[in-house]
Amino acid sequence: MTISSPDQVGSKEAKKILAVARGETLASPPVWLMRQAGRYLPEYREVRAKAKDFLDFCYTPELAIEATLQPVTRFGMDAAILFSDILVIPDALGQRVRFLEGEGPVLDALQGEADLAKLNSDRLIDHLQPVYAALKGVRERLDPNRTLIGFAGAPWTVATYMIEGRGSKDHALARLWAYEHPVRMARLMDLLIEAISTHLIGQLDAGADIVQIFDSWAGVLPDSLLWFLSIEPTARIVTRVREQKPDALIIGFPRAIGDRYPLYQRETGVDVVGLDTSLSISGLGRELQKIGPVQGNLDPIALLAGGDALKREVETILEALGRGPFIFNLGHGILKETPIPHVEQLVEMIRAWRA
Ligand code: CP3
Repeated sequence: MTISSPDQVGSKEAKKILAVARGETLASPPVWLMRQAGRYLPEYREVRAKAKDFLDFCYTPELAIEATLQPVTRFGMDAAILFSDILVIPDALGQRVRFLEGEGPVLDALQGEADLAKLNSDRLIDHLQPVYAALKGVRERLDPNRTLIGFAGAPWTVATYMIEGRGSKDHALARLWAYEHPVRMARLMDLLIEAISTHLIGQLDAGADIVQIFDSWAGVLPDSLLWFLSIEPTARIVTRVREQKPDALIIGFPRAIGDRYPLYQRETGVDVVGLDTSLSISGLGRELQKIGPVQGNLDPIALLAGGDALKREVETILEALGRGPFIFNLGHGILKETPIPHVEQLVEMIRAWRA
């Protein structure tokens, strides 16, 4: 059966994001927003209040299913992204992870060899069963024309939290590990590559159509470390996932790596590269799009501002990238202060635009 929609001239793929990930250009680009399920939504805050804590929320399928579907129901996003977190990986490996109100994530930081040796991937799949159950539940309830996105943090970004024990600005402690203890760091990378690959395969098996790898803190790495801690580990994950799932579609988001984006695109083998807010779309963004599909990169602050500023920013992005394979998104996660009408305005503008 050939399914076509008015927005997809010639496309056989009903899920617009998958059509783009395979290289198609659509008349009007699909849209979803990083962190689209979150505290800016009153219905999210309501579900959140039912859970004991944030991890309990992630591991309670009924609640995670509801949170995943909320932004699709409210705004008609083209994708649902699984409601979960990148820190379920250290949690599943046996490192203590807590989310403290007003503080964000807090982990018992890895101190050295002994702590590293305690991490255990044997129970990973069992531990993450509720996540796969949530994906299956979403799959059953999601409109078949919408894409279901699974995700994981990239090894480096997850490692920064494991080493530092919390979020930090410059990730100095994690970089220090890499310089002072390269062998230890390589062991942590190997463990994370394996765990993250397993988790992504588990999500694809549970019904995810495509997965995104968030390397939110890649931008602090100099070239040598970017290769060792971001590009090579991501390439190995892509290879591992495709060994099991040859048709797997993967989005890579190496935030703020600037002029190293082409290297990342070429060497990792991801299908789509996610562009951060600081990347020049008329320059490098278009160069990258000649090679493959791109996603991004509206400034979350412009979405917060709304009005004419938002309109100008959205038009600039659509004019620069909308005539090639393109998925509209933010350049980083949505902020909790974002007014809902601004998100509605954004989606309307994208729907009305034609290549
Ligand atoms: O995109 C989505 O809607 C799917 C769910 C999702 C969450 N976290 C839910 C969440 C995704 C894809 C993430 C990814 C994530 N988590 C990243 C990478 C993306 C990025 O933004 O850079 C990172 C670095 C994390 C780690 C993390 N989780 C932090 C730093 C925090 C605290 C942030 C804050 O604003 O307090 C979280 C908690 C978290 N993860 C929340 C949500 C909705 C807020 C928790 C709450 O409800 O109290």
